[in-house]
Amino acid sequence: MTAPVITVDGPSGSGKGTVSRLVAERLGWHWLDSGALYRLVALAALRRGTDPADVQALATLARNLDVRFEVDDSGDPVILLDGERVGGELRTEQTGDAASRVAAHQAVRDALLERQRAFCRPPGLVADGRDMGTVVFAQAPLKVFLTASCEERAKRRYKQLKEQGLSANLHALSEELAERDRRDAERRVAPLKPADDAVVVDSTQMDIDAVLEQVLRLARERG
Ligand code: C5P
Repeated sequence: MTAPVITVDGPSGSGKGTVSRLVAERLGWHWLDSGALYRLVALAALRRGTDPADVQALATLARNLDVRFEVDDSGDPVILLDGERVGGELRTEQTGDAASRVAAHQAVRDALLERQRAFCRPPGLVADGRDMGTVVFAQAPLKVFLTASCEERAKRRYKQLKEQGLSANLHALSEELAERDRRDAERRVAPLKPADDAVVVDSTQMDIDAVLEQVLRLARERG
């Protein structure tokens, strides 16, 4: 590793995206939203009509993905796929579900590996996903596994989607999250699980600020 890395893994809706972005901001480090890469592969496959069962075609798509991560004038992250800004479509549960299906293929994961590692640049990287601490940055000095009860995660996701102006149904969302987590945790390759040396943080009863402070404290202790 060319720079220090903090990994934040966990199930959907655990708050890892928000927390890892804020940790990166506070430390002045880079941020990798690895879930976005899997979502982009799923979206690109859908747009191009790629057969979801054709693993080689999906892997080729993943390897050649034309994607740029930028920040707009207000400091918010912007993602460009084939030079075009992708908006709410990337964040829907349908795209999340499709992402979790393409992510189950080893060839797709291999195709994205170096792209993810390239985010590791000085002064440091905060990487969020499912296998950041177990596979992609297995040598990271600080690994956090962020979790929360299924009910709480569904509520958070619901609020997030509503804030983005996307339609959502809490009950359906809760079932979709549970199904996606089951698929992510039971898959053969890079399953969702805490690394042996991860610090498990249960955020069910914590707000974002409390989680942020805990991760920053751990970072100071390990730094
Ligand atoms: O985190 P996010 O909800 O954006 O991730 C979408 C899907 O991408 C997950 O359900 C998971 O299947 C997959 N993923 C993965 N490995 C990662 C990040 C995401 O398999 N490191």
